[in-house]
Amino acid sequence: MIGPNGAGKSTALKAICGLLNPRSGEVLFQGENISGKQPYQLVEKGLCLVPEGRRVFTSMTVLENLEMGAYTVSSGQLSVVSRKNRQPKIDIRQLVEKIFSLFPVLKERQKQKAGTLSSGEQQMLAIGRALMLKPKLLLLDEPSLGLSPNYVDMVFERIKEINSEGTAILIVEQNARMALEYADRGYVFEIGKIAFEDEAKNLLENDEVRKSFLGG
Ligand SMILES: Nc1ncnc2c1ncn2[C@@H]1O[C@H](COP(=O)(O)OP(=O)(O)O)[C@@H](O)[C@H]1O
Ligand SMILES: [Mg+2]
Repeated sequence: MIGPNGAGKSTALKAICGLLNPRSGEVLFQGENISGKQPYQLVEKGLCLVPEGRRVFTSMTVLENLEMGAYTVSSGQLSVVSRKNRQPKIDIRQLVEKIFSLFPVLKERQKQKAGTLSSGEQQMLAIGRALMLKPKLLLLDEPSLGLSPNYVDMVFERIKEINSEGTAILIVEQNARMALEYADRGYVFEIGKIAFEDEAKNLLENDEVRKSFLGG
């Protein structure tokens, strides 16, 4: 999802995740109408949002942030941990190792407070924390915002890898051209509505989209 500031991209993500109630329309996920469900119910269904600005727990360590991501995981399935059964049954360590293999820098820094990481590292941690839930759909709001160019490339590469392992990705990006180069489909937002939608490669070649949204 691309488009100018204030077009409603973040609002759309929040509506999909149940953080906002849309006034009209419905949200379908794997054929099911999920409109009006609470965010925690949608997390159980496998939707997981990495919000704009990352929002890692800065005073907790990298490892603790990842463990918090798995707070609702039990028995290898997604379910809210009941009061009686607060101990997740599945091996959190195994999940953590998977994240570490995707983002080795997080392993190196696992005992560091998340607040001491660079923006790029925090973005990886925020994505890693979301992956602890093994989401079916990972929603990313502006993952490249404020990152140095090296990290932008790396984050996009990792997103591609996560996708190739079977997780669907819905990404909002200011970096429109790059997003379309990586994506299968694109949606161009314009003041609260979708102005264009198509296969990403077609949008990259669309004159109107190029002039207005991709800088010519
Ligand atoms: N479809 C909509 N209907 C009403 N208000 C909207 C709609 N989409 C966005 N807004 C409002 O527009 C503002 C900017 O939206 P936001 O989603 O943050 O934009 P973006 O992420 O594209 O920069 C917010 O105050 C939001 O409440
Ligand atoms: Mg936004």
